Amino acid sequence: MKKVGVSILGLGVVGGGTYRILESHREFFRATQNIDVTVECVLEPNAEKTGALGVPAEKVASNIAEIVANPDVNIIVETIGGVGVAREYVLAALNAGKTVVTSNKELYCKFSHELEHTAKRQNAGLFFEATCVGGVPIVRTLLDGLQANKISSFMGIINGTTNFILTEMAKGTSYADALAEAKKLGYTEADPSADVDGLDASYKLSILSSLAFHTKVPLSKVFREGISSVSVEDIRHGAELGYVLKLLAVGKQTEEGIEVRVHPAFLRKEHPLAAVNGCFNAVYLKGDAAGDMMMYGRGAGDLPTASAIVSDIIYAATHSEYRYSTFKNTEKEEKGVTFIDDFSSAYYVRLSVEDRSGMLAKIGSVLGKAGISINEVVQCGADEENRATVVLVTHETHEYAIRNAVSKLEASIAKVKSVLRVAL
Ligand code: HSE
Repeated sequence: MKKVGVSILGLGVVGGGTYRILESHREFFRATQNIDVTVECVLEPNAEKTGALGVPAEKVASNIAEIVANPDVNIIVETIGGVGVAREYVLAALNAGKTVVTSNKELYCKFSHELEHTAKRQNAGLFFEATCVGGVPIVRTLLDGLQANKISSFMGIINGTTNFILTEMAKGTSYADALAEAKKLGYTEADPSADVDGLDASYKLSILSSLAFHTKVPLSKVFREGISSVSVEDIRHGAELGYVLKLLAVGKQTEEGIEVRVHPAFLRKEHPLAAVNGCFNAVYLKGDAAGDMMMYGRGAGDLPTASAIVSDIIYAATHSEYRYSTFKNTEKEEKGVTFIDDFSSAYYVRLSVEDRSGMLAKIGSVLGKAGISINEVVQCGADEENRATVVLVTHETHEYAIRNAVSKLEASIAKVKSVLRVAL
């Protein structure tokens, strides 16, 4: 039986989950995969973490050099995160010819070209299923399962923390309380602003769209807006109109170019993604052969993400050719690829206006002059200062058109309280 020695760098939420699966499933992998996977050593300076997992003292390595020099270690799992020591250690592992499995989306998003170049030069494997969508095997599906398809678009909920927060806010919980609970449940990044500002989802979107569209989609091309200024009030107005608010990641490829964006957006409540709640993630994609498809599962948390890591370990251990790639993996976007920033969408706009005759007509006139047509409009009473809330949803228009029209409304007629995209 083939022996496979693993070392885990970092025993946080995901590294700890990986250790637990490898320890508890050793016999299962011997029986089902005909491989004997053992954790040879770990790199984790925090004795509380190693103690809590019951890692024997002799398996706690003192430094990366010791690990890469260990002939019994075949696969090194990196679950440290960030692009500091994690990058240094991953490069050290690859340079020593060890296969690397990483869950580090920031590292893979920013340095995949460097890591892959090193892996190829050293004939080492490089696996990154756990970088995107937790326990949902989206990376392998794009690489191995959907090769027959030209993918024209996908739309996903790919950050568990923000989906958990928005789900809780829809029940009336405050943003701060929902974020505190997400932290407690182990969903958030070390710095949770990466979740709420949409950066984590942008790393994943850069990786997924590079795979889906077979070209380099750099982070700098991803339009990004987070959820920190989303209000319970907008979620409630949206619900009254039949919408659910989600942090969406959208990738599209058309003849005009590639469009990649992360932002909060209303979905009709009948859309399959609208039913994806809590820490769950889902990706809805369109292939020219397979048609519409949705993958759904837990996008964050210890065991779901560790499931992706262990699946990479098994894949690496059971495939003789274990280079795991790839799209055109360069440092920058390819020459000749156009990225679209004036994308089209419908928009939800909440305004505060003086409650007097003719105001709706004035709003309609500003939008009409900008070529924007209104699909739905609701006025919700007036407050003691005689100001009414007007909520409107436009038909499809363009990002720059709505931005210009909103500045004109703000300058002349109304206070613009919020503008949110509505997915079509
Ligand atoms: N913080 C991430 C999330 C973890 O909430 O989705 C999984 O990548």
